[in-house]
Amino acid sequence: MAHNFDEIIDRRGTYSIKYDEAEKRGKPQDALPLWVADMDFRTPECVTDALIEKARHGIFGYTDTDSDYAASVTGWFVRRHGWRAEENWLVKTPGVVPALHMAVKAFTELGDAVIIQQPVYYPFVEAVSLTGRKLVVNELVETDGYYTIDFDDFERKIVENDVKLFILCSPHNPVGRVWRREELERLAEICLRHGVIVVSDEIHADFVYPDVGHRHIMFASLSDEVRGITVTCTAPSKTFNLAGLLISNLFIADEKLRRAFIAEYERCGFSQLAVMGMVACKAAYDGGEPWLAELLTYLEGNMNYLDEAVKSRLPGVKFRKPEGTYLAWLDMRGLGIDARKLDDFVLDSAKLWLDEGRIFGAGGKGFERVNVACPRSVLAEAASRLERAIAAIG
Ligand SMILES: Cc1ncc(COP(=O)(O)O)c(C=O)c1O
Repeated sequence: MAHNFDEIIDRRGTYSIKYDEAEKRGKPQDALPLWVADMDFRTPECVTDALIEKARHGIFGYTDTDSDYAASVTGWFVRRHGWRAEENWLVKTPGVVPALHMAVKAFTELGDAVIIQQPVYYPFVEAVSLTGRKLVVNELVETDGYYTIDFDDFERKIVENDVKLFILCSPHNPVGRVWRREELERLAEICLRHGVIVVSDEIHADFVYPDVGHRHIMFASLSDEVRGITVTCTAPSKTFNLAGLLISNLFIADEKLRRAFIAEYERCGFSQLAVMGMVACKAAYDGGEPWLAELLTYLEGNMNYLDEAVKSRLPGVKFRKPEGTYLAWLDMRGLGIDARKLDDFVLDSAKLWLDEGRIFGAGGKGFERVNVACPRSVLAEAASRLERAIAAIG
């Protein structure tokens, strides 16, 4: 491998929320942080080179992008996901989460119902509740660690609540599913039948493991009709570890939807984005593919390592390797620890700072989410800590 993913890079003292905010967030200082979804790996050199060049130029005035930026972004989705978006569908935002909030406000009224599929990335709930909309939940169905969709429940809840908007997570954080075409098509049919707009959060699109046997399908690629009701949210931030640069790229093909979204964006007072995010995004999409190929291999190795550790030395814990994302969803229900006490066990006994499953919704109780985008030795340390804490339960 050209890139050394085993290197331990000290992130303390860099304003990292993962490494520098334990005290502020009420966590023990010595807990190993494997929670928030950023990586402990350096971004590819092509990105740092572009940022250094821009920094050396030394002028950071108001900046916006041109067709060459759009070509880099759309080119990525053609090459990686077989989907051709048009340049004028592109709307840049300073992150996907702000875009979710703006989309909810742009496409629905106060009190309107928005549906999500829990357990899911917790800011989805906030995008609905903090904007004064009604939260409707279609619970995913878990069987042996594999999650599927209850389509009847999805449709019934849409009809009963007159749902206006669906926030899809694809691939799905935290359960690691890479939805199959048939599943996405069924969701799309239901949404089309009932006039539901789909905000499709595809930020994890680039993380699909080779042994899964199927690819990530862009929701908007299903058909022209589906594209017309879809807001596709993408970003280079997960793929290339750029979350702190606040850059994401939305594609909104339908002109009415796009205008409504842009109007909301403008109501927030936004115009241009921060220059470094755009520079990094373009450089990553232009030159980051070889690095990503190595990263995926390394992450797969980490998932295999964790799988082996769970099977051989973590009794009471279950793990099904995800189809996508760098997030492992550990089922700890077998430890016999009350769901409310599980957090204390993980933090205080195992000295691990993970994301508690319950924050992803009711179905997450008894689970913990582990971010495996770290050097393997760190993951090994985490597994050993958990092993010792489990042994101490007696
Ligand atoms: C599904 C999903 N959407 C959005 C985000 C964050 O997006 P951003 O940092 O661009 O706001 C994450 C981060 O973990 C995520 O998992």
